[in-house]
Amino acid sequence: MSASASPAAILGQERELGSPAASLRRPSTAGPELTIVVPTLNERDNVGPLIDRLYRLLLGVDWEAVFVDDDSADGTAEHLRDLGRGDRRIRCIRRFGRRGLSSACIEGILSSSARYIAVIDGDLQHDETLLPRMLDILKREQTDLVVASRYLASGAAGGLSSRRRVLSRSGVWLARLLLKSDITDPVSGFFMMRSEVADKAAARLSGVGTKILIDLLASAPRRLSVTELPYRFRGRYSGSSKLDWFTILEYLALLAEKVSGGYLPSKFLLFGAVGATGMVVHLVVLRLLLVAVGTGFVGAQSTATAAAMIWNYFLNNTLTYRDYRLVGWAALRGLVSFMTICGLGAVINVLVARDLYAMTQMWLFAGAGGAAVGALLNYALTSMFTWGRRSS
Ligand code: GDD
Ligand code: MN
Repeated sequence: MSASASPAAILGQERELGSPAASLRRPSTAGPELTIVVPTLNERDNVGPLIDRLYRLLLGVDWEAVFVDDDSADGTAEHLRDLGRGDRRIRCIRRFGRRGLSSACIEGILSSSARYIAVIDGDLQHDETLLPRMLDILKREQTDLVVASRYLASGAAGGLSSRRRVLSRSGVWLARLLLKSDITDPVSGFFMMRSEVADKAAARLSGVGTKILIDLLASAPRRLSVTELPYRFRGRYSGSSKLDWFTILEYLALLAEKVSGGYLPSKFLLFGAVGATGMVVHLVVLRLLLVAVGTGFVGAQSTATAAAMIWNYFLNNTLTYRDYRLVGWAALRGLVSFMTICGLGAVINVLVARDLYAMTQMWLFAGAGGAAVGALLNYALTSMFTWGRRSS
């Protein structure tokens, strides 16, 4: 239909065709039956080979691949855009100012209209040859979800270093215990599901960290039926892993959030943990200034408070809010906003404690009450104003 067609002309055309706009909207090509979601962060040299393998493997399948890229510096998104120009099955969602493997997967999953959705890493560590079997199982059986497992009979975690292997095993053990799940590899990042599974869990997903499968399993309104397939976790094709030590803390916070039914948001737990380390920094600096430098108490206490605030800010920026991490000048502005808000929190803390003490004469209750109100205020306000998150 031309851009200049008048409303009357469109109506006339509809009448002529006998049915409403539906007939005009007949698609040139129906949507795909399978969407393969691939999170990417600096995987430029891996995505091409992965797509080549998909072409060869999925000959009889109507598929698309949705890459979700977090502003990779190596030109991953540009490369994908070029590939997408030659083939509409290759799409790339580009995200800026945000990071995170799980949240990237969620965005790719929710962009899909396909009946079946798979998630796979972009570095060829997952064995993509399982994809046709996964699809076949979902089509023929009642299963909600097919998971590729490194820990099922003939599977293997060969691509992991021995330290990573111990961590991975512990993570699996903890998740199975806490989520009462009997899946052998609940931290797998390679699986395929019916789209309803994602739809029903969508509103409750937390998107924290890297373990999207755990998030899905714990957010589903009912127990999901899962089929597992063994596979051998390969070495990386190119580039390096994006996971680090903080990933472990994020993982623990995600489990706590899920086990508490969402009442303990992972970001709040991480903020609290950072605050506890800040307390130690505060006391160490205070002691040093008092004893080693010989500063007066008020001066020492003020400096220790500022030191703890700076410590808390940078740790929150790299751990709690790593998905919204501030860099460059924004990081400096963030520090100013964080210290201002926490200063305000301290004043409120003292005022609340003073009133509680006047009412009850109980120092512990009054002191802890003031500190709790101050901490909650710091969390809520810095989340909104320092890191710019307006929800949860
Ligand atoms: N968009 C986006 N944003 N993608 C990311 C991010 C991110 O912040 N971090 C990592 N990725 C992408 C990587 O580019 C890669 O395609 C995939 O997610 C997996 O990241 P790796 O850094 O390669 O993870 P790994 O190999 O150490 O961890 C694997 O093992 C886990 C099981 O223990 C992954 O397979 C995980 O998915 C898996 O859960
Ligand atoms: Mn990897």
